[in-house]
Amino acid sequence: MDRLEKLAADVRDLGRRALVLPCDVTAEGDLDRAAARTRETLGRIDVVVANAGFGVMGPLETLTLGDYRRQFETNVFGVLRTVYATLEDVKRARGRLVLLGSVSGHLALPGASAYAMSKFAVRGLAEALAHELASRGVAVTLVSPGLVESEMRQVDNRGRWHAEAARGSPKALVVPVATAARHIVRAVARRRREAVITRHGKLAVFLQRHAPWLVRKVVGRLGARSRSQPGRAAAPE
Ligand SMILES: NC(=O)c1ccc[n+]([C@@H]2O[C@H](COP(=O)([O-])OP(=O)(O)OC[C@H]3O[C@@H](n4cnc5c(N)ncnc54)[C@H](OP(=O)(O)O)[C@@H]3O)[C@@H](O)[C@H]2O)c1
Repeated sequence: MDRLEKLAADVRDLGRRALVLPCDVTAEGDLDRAAARTRETLGRIDVVVANAGFGVMGPLETLTLGDYRRQFETNVFGVLRTVYATLEDVKRARGRLVLLGSVSGHLALPGASAYAMSKFAVRGLAEALAHELASRGVAVTLVSPGLVESEMRQVDNRGRWHAEAARGSPKALVVPVATAARHIVRAVARRRREAVITRHGKLAVFLQRHAPWLVRKVVGRLGARSRSQPGRAAAPE
């Protein structure tokens, strides 16, 4: 909350209005209330970013049905709740819907089935919605980041944040938040269907589309290595 208030203060310093409304995308009604307060305070909603997400990690055999359900509750149904809560506003404004997918919505790595399934689902949603809303003047942009600097790797399979955990991604592959934000804003402003963020992300998506056999070979070589959860030993290979 403090971080959001600080961010809002920075936005206000730029002469813009900002409103901080904490909510849980898995809780029924939270997003409807947030959208109503936004309408009352700011007058209209013309750009909506469904960003909330986390990663349930581990090979299928170490996970339960509950883990998969929890993953979908935030990454898929949370996105749907965001869209339902704001769709009429965005249609009225002939505005923009931005859905956070991932390069994992294009290719599924071992040890990331739950996360990849959720992001494949978001990609399907973005594609269908873009067609459905085109005649209403609404642009739908799917953002598919590779690795962007974030706290995602400090969050465990239950969605709990571990301050002490390492951020974890190889530095050379991670792009700074400001760079990613610039790419996202440009893509949304231009009403692009998809923005794949990071060079290696673009390469991975290209290869998966045009040389899936090569991707299979490389992933096979790397082995079924899974990203470990914060607060736990690495998942078995
Ligand atoms: N960073 C990457 O490399 C990367 C790559 C591919 C895709 N993505 C996607 O980008 C999006 C943002 O992730 P990030 O990298 O910025 O990770 P992050 O630093 O962990 O941020 C995740 C954000 O989602 C919010 N969130 C999680 N569960 C929520 C819930 N139930 N209700 C409301 N908010 C919730 C968190 O809020 P709290 O802090 O309040 O929990 C936090 O603001 C996610 O959809 C992620 O899957 C990121």
